Order: sequence, then structure tokens, then C-alpha cells
Amino acid sequence: MHVTSLKLENFRNYGTLEIQPGEGLNIFVGLNAQGKSNLLESLYLLATSKSSRAGKDTELVRFDQPQARVTADVIRTKNSDVEIEIALSMTEKKVARINGVKHTRLAEVIGQLNAVLFDSGDLEIIRGEPSIRRRFLDLEIAQTSPRYVLALGSYRKTLEQRNRLLRDLRDGRVPGSARESLPAWNEGLAQHGARLIERRRLFLERLAQLASETHRTLSDERDSLEVVYQPSFSLDGLSEVGDIQGRFQEELASVAGEEAARGTTVRGPQRDDIAFRVNGQDCRLYGSQGQQRTVALSLKLAERQLIEELVGEPPLLLLDDVLSDLDDARRALLFELTARAGSQTFLSCTNLRAFSPGVLDRATVYAVSAGEVAKQ
Ligand SMILES: Nc1ncnc2c1ncn2[C@@H]1O[C@H](COP(=O)(O)OP(=O)(O)OP(=O)(O)O)[C@@H](O)[C@H]1O
Ligand SMILES: [Mg+2]
Repeated sequence: MHVTSLKLENFRNYGTLEIQPGEGLNIFVGLNAQGKSNLLESLYLLATSKSSRAGKDTELVRFDQPQARVTADVIRTKNSDVEIEIALSMTEKKVARINGVKHTRLAEVIGQLNAVLFDSGDLEIIRGEPSIRRRFLDLEIAQTSPRYVLALGSYRKTLEQRNRLLRDLRDGRVPGSARESLPAWNEGLAQHGARLIERRRLFLERLAQLASETHRTLSDERDSLEVVYQPSFSLDGLSEVGDIQGRFQEELASVAGEEAARGTTVRGPQRDDIAFRVNGQDCRLYGSQGQQRTVALSLKLAERQLIEELVGEPPLLLLDDVLSDLDDARRALLFELTARAGSQTFLSCTNLRAFSPGVLDRATVYAVSAGEVAKQ
């Protein structure tokens, strides 16, 4: 798939912008704070319905403007071509349009366009808090599975209500008899939760294989990588989603005392984690900066491959200022891998020194300055 036209209106530091990117490598070069990352972020928003950086959607709207809009025309080989638009407002919920038809349920928009973002935040997937790894999982699975988005929404809603009940019971805000409704909540939580766990397990199984192959190449066959799903309870011997649901309910029953005392749910996907082991050791705790970086890069390249497997065509690659973090050999390998993969690529950088003339000849280069973009 590739984007043939990208339009921004009052998005971040852009007033109006329209570009027709090339099918291969597109390089956005400019000084700091000119709008390079903002441009890549707009594509990420179209793919995932979420910002890669902002906490709130309102941060994406240009200062002093009431609303923003991002639109792209996308050519796809496995599906029909599509125009995707996301409108953001300071006062209302964001609205997406697919070929002009309005969708307020964002699950329908996610995955119309696929993109994998590489940025400085990737390292946090390896060394940050577990919540960052869960967010990574959710965003990536969502891109190829709208049903996952729906299950995630149902699970979150059930979890929130169950937590409120547990808290109210603990603090005596509701009569003790309210405890009788817990089994019904347990069933709902386990039903939605089991679907998330099953999907995460499958996704990580394949991602782990691909990541470890890529990692072997990136580390010159020196290091081995294992990516291991760590759910909040053991899935040993469970193959069906119904079995997971059953085990989840048993787990909830077994921790009832702890939950009553703490007033919150202590088992389930909201406690999941992923371990990255390099040569058998936890890379989060023991990996060098370079090793962590190599794991992060392997993970993203694996994700690219997995999306291609699932969707049937390569996703966009968004490389936000990552070249300076890579040594020459890895940089060359990244170019080789991505060129071979045939992904339309959007890359930001502050100068063109890292590119060989051969790479530059094939690329479309844009200079970015104060929210203006000029093709070179
Ligand atoms: N909502 C907004 N309205 C107007 N300007 C904004 C908004 N959000 C961010 N900006 C501005 O956008 C500018 C460019 O940000 P961006 O992150 O794209 O820079 P960049 O070109 O990637 O720079 P760097 O090389 O430092 O990464 C910043 O100066 C920031 O103040
Ligand atoms: Mg930037």
C-alpha cells in the first residue's frame, strides 16, 4: 500500500499542506522543531487513529485553531483504494471519514492504512514500564484486527465497573450484599479478557519468531533473542479461548480475598507483560544500551513483516530520526531490509549525510521549514 496524497489542515504547526509522496523512500530533512515528526505523526494517526506522542487529541490541533484535519489517498493492492480522513476538534470527539462516509467508531478506521513507526520512544518498549509494552501490543494487534479493538473496549469497560464495585465494597460505600453480583462480573471479565489473551499470545508467538531471526542478522549472529509473553496467570496446557476463560475465572475465585482487601482486580490482561531475553538474560535489566536498541529495532522490523504477512502487502514505514542512533552497519542493513521489503517509507532527519548517493537518487527529498514543505 502507499499514500499518493497527504493533506494537512491546522495539524500541529501546519496551516495547509498537500504533498504527493513518492512510492519508495521519502526523506524529510530540516532543522529541529520544523515539523518533520509532526508530518510522520499525521500518517501514524491515520493508521491507528491515535497520536504517537500526544496524550490528548487537542494537542494535535494547531494553536488558536478550533479544528484540524488530516486526509490521505491510499492505493492498496489487496483492498480497494481508499481516502481516509480524521478530523480533530478542540471541543468534540474526533471523527473519521472513509471515502467520505463518517465513522465515529474508530475500530472501523484502524487498519485501513497500516504503518510501522520507528522512533526514539522504541527503546522504552524494552526498558520502560509494563504499561508501555501493553500499549505497544494493543496498538499493533489493533492494526490487523478490528475485532481486537472491540474486545479491548468491552474488557476495559467491564474492568472499570468491576474495580468500582470492589472499591465500593472495600470502603463500605455499598452494602455487603452487592458482593453477590461479583460472579456475573467475573464471567464477563473472563469472557472479554480471554479473547485478548488468546490474541496477544498468537501475535507474540509469531512476532517472537520473526524478531529473533532479524535480531540474529542485526547482531552478526552473535546474540540470540527470545520474546516471551508473560500473562498474569499461567496458560500452560490451554489451547482454546474457552479454556483460557475457564482458567481466568478460577484465578479470580482464588484471589477473591486479595481483591477484597485491595479493592481492585489483580489478574487479567491489564497486568500482562513481555520479557525480552538476550542470550538468556533479561534485556531490560542487563542489556547494554546498544543491545536494547538492537532488540527494539528487531521488534519493529518483525512487526513490519508480520503486518505484511497478515494484510498481504507491506505497511508504510515511518522512520523518525532514528538513523543517528544506528551505527553504519545497522543503518546499511536497515536500508537494505526496507528497500527489499518494498514499503513506502517516510524518513525524517536533520541532514543528508547518512545517505549514499545511490539511496538519494532513488528518494524523494523534501525540505521542511516552519511548517512548510518544499520538494527538492
Ligand atoms: N498544536 C500545535 N500547534 C502549533 N505548533 C505546534 C503544535 N504542536 C507542536 N507544535 C510545534 O511544532 C514544531 C515542530 O515539531 P516537530 O516535532 O515536528 O519538529 P521536528 O522537525 O521533528 O524537530 P526535531 O528535529 O527536533 O525532532 C515545534 O516547534 C512545536 O512547538
Ligand atoms: Mg522530530
